[in-house]
Order: sequence, then C-alpha cells, then structure tokens
Amino acid sequence: MQALLDHLQPGSADWVLAQSLDAGRLPRHIGVIMDGNGRWANSRHLPRVAGHRAGVEPVRSTVETAARLGIRSLTLYAFSVENWKRPRAEVETLWRLLRHYLRRELDHLVDNNIQLRAIGRVEALAPQVRRELDQAVAATERNDGLVLNLAINYGGRTEIVDAVNAALDEARRAGELDDFRVDESVIERHLSTAGQPELDLLIRTSGEMRISNFLLWQIAYAELYVTGTLWPDFHRTEFLEALLAYQKRDRRFGGLRNAAAGNGAEEPCMVEAGLPAR
Ligand code: IPE
Ligand code: IPE
Ligand code: MG
Repeated sequence: MQALLDHLQPGSADWVLAQSLDAGRLPRHIGVIMDGNGRWANSRHLPRVAGHRAGVEPVRSTVETAARLGIRSLTLYAFSVENWKRPRAEVETLWRLLRHYLRRELDHLVDNNIQLRAIGRVEALAPQVRRELDQAVAATERNDGLVLNLAINYGGRTEIVDAVNAALDEARRAGELDDFRVDESVIERHLSTAGQPELDLLIRTSGEMRISNFLLWQIAYAELYVTGTLWPDFHRTEFLEALLAYQKRDRRFGGLRNAAAGNGAEEPCMVEAGLPAR
C-alpha cells in the first residue's frame, strides 16, 4: 500500500483515492474479465485488433498497481476456450500481443518480485508462444510478491473437469481408486489456483453482466464489480474506484453481518448442519 502512495503525486486524484483505501481490507485475490477491446476500436472506426493493442497498457498499469498495493493474487482473463471461435487473424494478433507483452514486461515483472503463472490449457498454444510463456514463468518462479495468473485458453468448466481427472489419476497411482470420493478440498487442491487465496473481487469491464466461463469454482463468494468502462480505458483511477467499491460491500458468506450477529455469545450452528466451515 505504502509503495503505491510513494509512487503517486501527493494531492493528485489517484493519491486521494488511494488515501481513502483501508490497507487492512484489500482483496487478497482479484480476477479481471478484460472486455470491450473490440467496441473501443469500433467506436473509433478502427479495426478490432487496434482495441487489443490498446488493451496492453491497462494490463501493465493494473499489474503494477496491484503489486504496489501488496495484493496477493491477480488473475487476468486473456483468452477463453471459446475465443477460438473468432477469425484466425484476430486470434493470431492476440498471440502476437501476448508475446510482445511478455518480452516488454519480463524485466519489470522480475524487478517487482511478481510471479507469473499461466492457467488454462496452454498445451494447445503454438510451440513458439508456449516456449516464450514457459520461459517467462520460469524466470519469475522464485519471486514471492504478487502472483499474476494469466488465464489463456482458459475455461472454468474445463478447469473443474481437469481438476477431477487429476484427482482421479492421483488416486489411481496411489492404488486408492476403489474408495475414492471427491469433496471440495480435493477439487480445490487440483485447481490451477490451488494454494492461492479465495477470489475476493471479480471485475468485468464493458458492462456485460455475465461470467463467460471465468473462474466458476473460485467466484463462489467473490464480490462482483461491473463497470461500463471499456478495457482499453481502464486506467489506475478505475481500478482504485473498484477497490473502494469493494471495501463498501458487506460480505456475509451466508451468515449475518457483524452488527446483527449479537454479542458473539451464540455459537454458529455450522457444525450441526454438517457444512464446511470457511
Ligand atoms: C476482450 O475484448 C478481449 C478478448 C476477449 C480477448 P473483446 O475482443 O471481447 O471486445 P468486445 O467485447 O468485442 O468489445
Ligand atoms: C470474455 O470475454 C473472455 C475474455 C475477456 C478473455 P468475451 O468477449 O469472450 O465474452 P462474451 O462472448 O461477451 O461472453
Ligand atoms: Mg468481448
């Protein structure tokens, strides 16, 4: 948090916004559906790919701001398993931009102690893209600051299917297949975000009120924040506004808000109901 304040011009609009954030109540894990590049380009009479190109800068600023705030994990939806339905030329531009981003940003990621991970079926990517991605992931794997998950060829349903299959394979190898049952912790341990905090905040740009197969398991109790701003216009100010909106939410997780929960003398009946305690 202090790292962000030190970086901002005292008295500037972003500095004022950052000052009003409660450093003790920042989300630990933020997911972003970076949407609206095509519409941004259309509104300027530009080809759709110009929108994707303009979408690189907000990636940079969002990553930098999250790292300076001390956020633990940031998951960016870059390419869905459904995005292969788009014209080949657009898809190829997206891979070119990914490589451009990795090349341009790698030093910055390393210097800022950011650990890059790729989630999704990355084995389906072209070998050259895959190689550069693997190299960037390897170059940052010892970093222990912000974990930046890039969701590439990612689908939430695919991820859950892959997690169940991985758990089955593990049980088979251990000779424990006969008694094998899945439960929530088994699935969680095999998700691509295993070991990372629960998703606290999901941001979607461009005003669409849908999840589009992103982090289906992880969003169970995430706060949703949808802004009409198109992704190329999602600057630091918009990100800080999303964090402020998040801090105004009353997160109850199915229980009662603190003020309504009495003096704390009553025990929650979670254990009797047999529900998993969170
Ligand atoms: C998001 O912008 C980027 C990707 C899905 C890769 P879009 O390309 O979906 O932009 P719109 O939704 O058509 O405006
Ligand atoms: C979601 O956006 C995927 C990414 C941002 C990578 P889409 O533009 O693909 O989603 P829909 O088609 O509007 O649901
Ligand atoms: Mg879209």
